[in-house]
Amino acid sequence: MTPAEITLVRDSFQKVALIAPQAAALFYGRLFELDPSLRPLFTGDMTEQGKKLMATLALATATLDRPDQLLPVVRQLGVRHVAYGVRDEHYATVGAALLWTLEQGLGADFTPAVRAAWTATYTLLADTMIAAAHHRPEAVK
Ligand code: HEM
Repeated sequence: MTPAEITLVRDSFQKVALIAPQAAALFYGRLFELDPSLRPLFTGDMTEQGKKLMATLALATATLDRPDQLLPVVRQLGVRHVAYGVRDEHYATVGAALLWTLEQGLGADFTPAVRAAWTATYTLLADTMIAAAHHRPEAVK
């Protein structure tokens, strides 16, 4: 990712973080609308789950310029997701729900450049998680 993309992702995430509980609620609402079959995979408290998701996105946006720090954490997350029943094809649905949520939260600030920067960020996270789930750490350098 370019430094300009990283700046766009960080600045836009700071705005969404101000409304983190609402953003998380929007996200899961949209996710289960897009694919209701994903709802039973979530067995815990959804407010807590939303906090964990936002905390992970905060960490990811903060360390995008330090892949050596970020990617091991994301690989572990990907391995844990196998046990949650998550499959490769679910990542596209989650990505769509995330971009939709950012669009709702940012309004006019969700410019094409911001969308592209978030698409690159999510692709990096998802590809890394999926590869780790398949025990292919060499594929996610
Ligand atoms: C960039 C992508 C993703 C991020 C950052 C993310 C983040 C997280 C975090 C931080 C947790 C808390 C537990 C832990 O740390 O292991 C979690 C749990 C979970 N995630 Fe994800 N996740 C992502 C993708 C997905 C996808 C694609 C699915 C598919 C539906 C999914 C479904 C779940 C489920 C089912 C749990 C466990 C919920 C429970 O314990 O009830 N996640 N995720």
